[in-house]
Amino acid sequence: MRDSIYLDYAATSAIRPDAVTEAVTEYLRDIGATPGRSGHRRAIEAGRVMLRCRRALAELFGISGDPGRIAFQFNGTHALNTALFGLLAPGDRVVRTAYDHHAVRRPISVLRQRGVEELVLSGSPDGGIDLDEAEQALRGARLLVLPHASNVIGALLPVAELARRAHAHGALVLLDACQTAGHLPVRVHELGVDLLAFTGHKGLLGPQGTGGLWVRDGVDVAPLLLGGTGGDSDSDGMPGLLPDRLEAGSQNGPGLAGLLAGVRWVLEQQPNALHERESGLKHRLLRRLQATSGVRVRSPAALDGVGIVTLTADTLDAATLASRLDREHGILARAGLHCAPALTRHSVRSVPERCACRSGGQPRKPRWIVPLMQSCKHAGQTPLSPWR
Ligand SMILES: Cc1ncc(COP(=O)(O)O)c(C=O)c1O
Repeated sequence: MRDSIYLDYAATSAIRPDAVTEAVTEYLRDIGATPGRSGHRRAIEAGRVMLRCRRALAELFGISGDPGRIAFQFNGTHALNTALFGLLAPGDRVVRTAYDHHAVRRPISVLRQRGVEELVLSGSPDGGIDLDEAEQALRGARLLVLPHASNVIGALLPVAELARRAHAHGALVLLDACQTAGHLPVRVHELGVDLLAFTGHKGLLGPQGTGGLWVRDGVDVAPLLLGGTGGDSDSDGMPGLLPDRLEAGSQNGPGLAGLLAGVRWVLEQQPNALHERESGLKHRLLRRLQATSGVRVRSPAALDGVGIVTLTADTLDAATLASRLDREHGILARAGLHCAPALTRHSVRSVPERCACRSGGQPRKPRWIVPLMQSCKHAGQTPLSPWR
């Protein structure tokens, strides 16, 4: 595993700073208790880890108010489900985009069956959004939900502009920052969003099973999960205050200790610098891939997008290309619909499947660019069989 080249950071950051692994181990070894449940020293220390993690996240996301308005969730999907089911009622209109991940599409399809009206803003191969279409759709909407960046083509959406228009029509804005948190600056007040859903295991470099939802002061989200929180135990209802309101059940203490270490690492490196580095790598790779016969780049080359490069090979389907990159060259990338089929089926027709590569935030020499380019060329031009 160690000498492979990991380029699947859009799915998860399988390679993390050592500090993350150490923090998880230390938590399990030295703390091990559930935060908020008991009053002994281990439980108190567990609570401190959670508080530090909330504070670090608040710093990262530029949250000026109470960090307790960040509720931990078990991943980005959980955070998005909590927000969507907790905000939308029959008769409400939700506006979303063609760029959405299944974590948004699937809950909304259930909500639609329950009487929520869904409008989908169309997309384009270069990641564009038609602002006139958005303006029309937002009239009378309760919620606009949008990804900060597409997980398929890496394009950034004009969040601040869309948020301004949504607010002008009285709609709330929920941002899915799963592909941007830790990869570039995500500042909630500058973007003007009301809710932010993030995952912990991608750019924030934490373990799987971590994520969160920030809810602006003044917005109430009904809980998706009901259960114990360690407080208000006399009541049958969930507590009214965040974060407890959205944190039913025992939390992922070891995971959050790891997430804290990951967020600290990102803060030390600075999201701006990480973005610059990632953009530099992306552009070097794009230049070389564009000059490589047999391979087509399918993601826009915009400098401000995130570092996702999506490609197809002329003579191979994407699954075969990805499999060959792994088996024959030790390059770990991802093929398929990437949980965002609308983008492939409607916006970028003729590309049924693609192979995506994303380098991670960890500083290391970009050794992979030349091998990847050469391997794509090789894999794209070599006949399918015989298999090795
Ligand atoms: C844009 C986007 N939203 C949501 C998710 C879901 O995140 P998680 O895997 O943490 O549930 C992903 C993960 O691939 C994503 O790329």
